[in-house]
Amino acid sequence: MTATEDLGHPLGGKPGPEPIYSLSGVDKEYSRGSVAVTAITGISLEIGAGEMISLEGPSGSGKSTLLLLLGALDRPSRGSILYNGMELASVSEGELTRIRRNEIGFVFQQFNLIPTLSAAENVEIAAQAGRGAQASSRARDLLEMVGLGNRGDHLPSRLSGGEQQRVAIARALMNGPKVIIADEPTGNLDSASAATVMDLLSKLNAESGVTVIIATHDRDVASRCPRRIRLRDGRIQPDAEE
Ligand SMILES: Nc1ncnc2c1ncn2[C@@H]1O[C@H](COP(=O)(O)OP(=O)(O)OP(=O)(O)O)[C@@H](O)[C@H]1O
Ligand SMILES: [Mg+2]
Repeated sequence: MTATEDLGHPLGGKPGPEPIYSLSGVDKEYSRGSVAVTAITGISLEIGAGEMISLEGPSGSGKSTLLLLLGALDRPSRGSILYNGMELASVSEGELTRIRRNEIGFVFQQFNLIPTLSAAENVEIAAQAGRGAQASSRARDLLEMVGLGNRGDHLPSRLSGGEQQRVAIARALMNGPKVIIADEPTGNLDSASAATVMDLLSKLNAESGVTVIIATHDRDVASRCPRRIRLRDGRIQPDAEE
């Protein structure tokens, strides 16, 4: 350890995790006809690699907007979003595509499985390298990991909501993401299935160090995240961050 690093931790505490995201002064506006709608504004935030965070807030407070920006699915109107030191506001479209394909796994409220493909095929088609024996075997392993090793051949319509969401999580893991971004992942689930999905996300976070960011209206879900961020009218509520 260098002298400078020592100075950084005078109390001998462990260094915090490296930030995987560093946001500063981020705004996102949408135009609705001729009117500009501010979805989020003045967001400054650091997220450490390996954190598990909930984003709470009323409908329209900007949770999904923030997740889209973190997921490199959209760019901010103003401000800076550093992802692993890369400025997402200005990297090329090609680089954004690479990041969201290889480094970020998405999970949505509607599980978005392809109804005509089996559970295993739904996972396999996410493979960046394309389908094939290797992808197929990894898909089976991932289904095993999410507790669905014996459901690989089932069509989504033959799976419960909680099972479908676990298939969606397996799919999100196909390319070994650093980050899982989940928008209301338990919004369509009963509380027992929601708890199973949260068990799985917590385990991935704890055992694989995947950074997990979850937008949710469900306090039980949020309370399972070590860090909770609350949005209101597109801003972070400073008091409520725990
Ligand atoms: N594509 C869009 N075009 C125009 N306005 C948008 C668009 N997406 C979001 N908005 C607006 O931005 C604001 C924030 O929306 P956002 O979807 O981020 O909220 P949310 O917190 O995810 O809400 P919910 O809990 O209902 O999912 C809202 O006023 C919304 O109407
Ligand atoms: Mg939303």
